[in-house]
Amino acid sequence: MTGARDMEIAVLVLAGDGIGPEVTEQALRVLRTVAAQGKRSFRFESALIGGAAIDAEGTPLPEGTRRAALASDAVLLGAVGDNRFNALPPSQRPEAGLLAIRAALGGFANLRPAFAYPALAANSPLRAEVIEGADILFVRELLGGLYFGQPRQWDRAGSAGEEAAWNTMRYTRGEIERVARIAFELAAGRRGKLCSVDKANVLEVSQLWRAVVNEVAREYPGVTVEHEYVDACAMHLMNNPRRFDVVLTENLFGDILSDEAGVIAGSLGVLPSATIGGKVNLYEPVHGSAPDIAGQGIANPIGAMLTAAMLLRHSAGMGEEALAVEQAVRTVLEGGARTRDLARAGEEAITTDEMGVRVNDALIGLLRAGMEERRLAGTTR
Ligand code: IPM
Ligand code: MN
Repeated sequence: MTGARDMEIAVLVLAGDGIGPEVTEQALRVLRTVAAQGKRSFRFESALIGGAAIDAEGTPLPEGTRRAALASDAVLLGAVGDNRFNALPPSQRPEAGLLAIRAALGGFANLRPAFAYPALAANSPLRAEVIEGADILFVRELLGGLYFGQPRQWDRAGSAGEEAAWNTMRYTRGEIERVARIAFELAAGRRGKLCSVDKANVLEVSQLWRAVVNEVAREYPGVTVEHEYVDACAMHLMNNPRRFDVVLTENLFGDILSDEAGVIAGSLGVLPSATIGGKVNLYEPVHGSAPDIAGQGIANPIGAMLTAAMLLRHSAGMGEEALAVEQAVRTVLEGGARTRDLARAGEEAITTDEMGVRVNDALIGLLRAGMEERRLAGTTR
């Protein structure tokens, strides 16, 4: 029989558009460093998605990419989106490829951790004493709501007398239950607080959401639940982010609130995400393809590198190595390394590549120290 450590982990890399390839290269740098330890072997393959796939194959999610993704153990994605396709309808845009791969892989719980790095306290427009100690895990439902709900249409002909367009925010009981359960499990392992975010004062879909969350809550007596309307939550995130532990919410609300959380972290560029619960987990930084800065070597790779850490934790069973990557990022930020998005007046900005190298060097040191510690403790792992 083969033990877990001998089992190869196949990672499909979808670098995508804009800054996707640049930041993904740095994520791969840390994964290769972990792979080089030899505890588990990794196999990396890459495929096309988004605008890059439209250029090469005329579709944002080629069949080959879908098949390779489903055959892998984890998918690492950079970013998707390209202004050249702005005039196209949603179904033909690069983003359609992202939504299609999310649907194909089936992961419905998108975990988006956001916290205030002490080293970046001055980067937030919020006062240091407001963000200090903030540590939030957003659980964003990823396969329902307005992104996928039917019917959806742009009625250009104006059949009802005037041009109109509509999308549908739709959730079934089962869709709410399964993501709520994951959020409660995660809250139970953290500070035991869950805030479910909805708009139940206006929307039926939110009333069902709230009812189902309350039902699931009964299975987790150790977790305190509260409900907030999304508008109030958006404000509380800015004036008292410490009040939140796990924030559970539907697809679009989660999209919006997690960008807002970039303000707490100091830059959207440092936020990672992992999508779990489906056939194959999907890992992607929260930031987008940032076409305005693509190809210049100035993008912040930290979000992508922390995304690699989430891959190590959730798909490779390498929690210790994930912690080491996260510690390496903290060390490097504390040492003053700043990409352009983080550099303040008078601070020198380093390149994407240089940030990647520094985090990776710190990681190598931490992994070595860990090995030495285990050797001294007499364990071989
Ligand atoms: C995100 C992005 C995507 C989303 C876009 C690119 C479709 O903004 O992952 O947050 O809205 O989900
Ligand atoms: Mn977004």
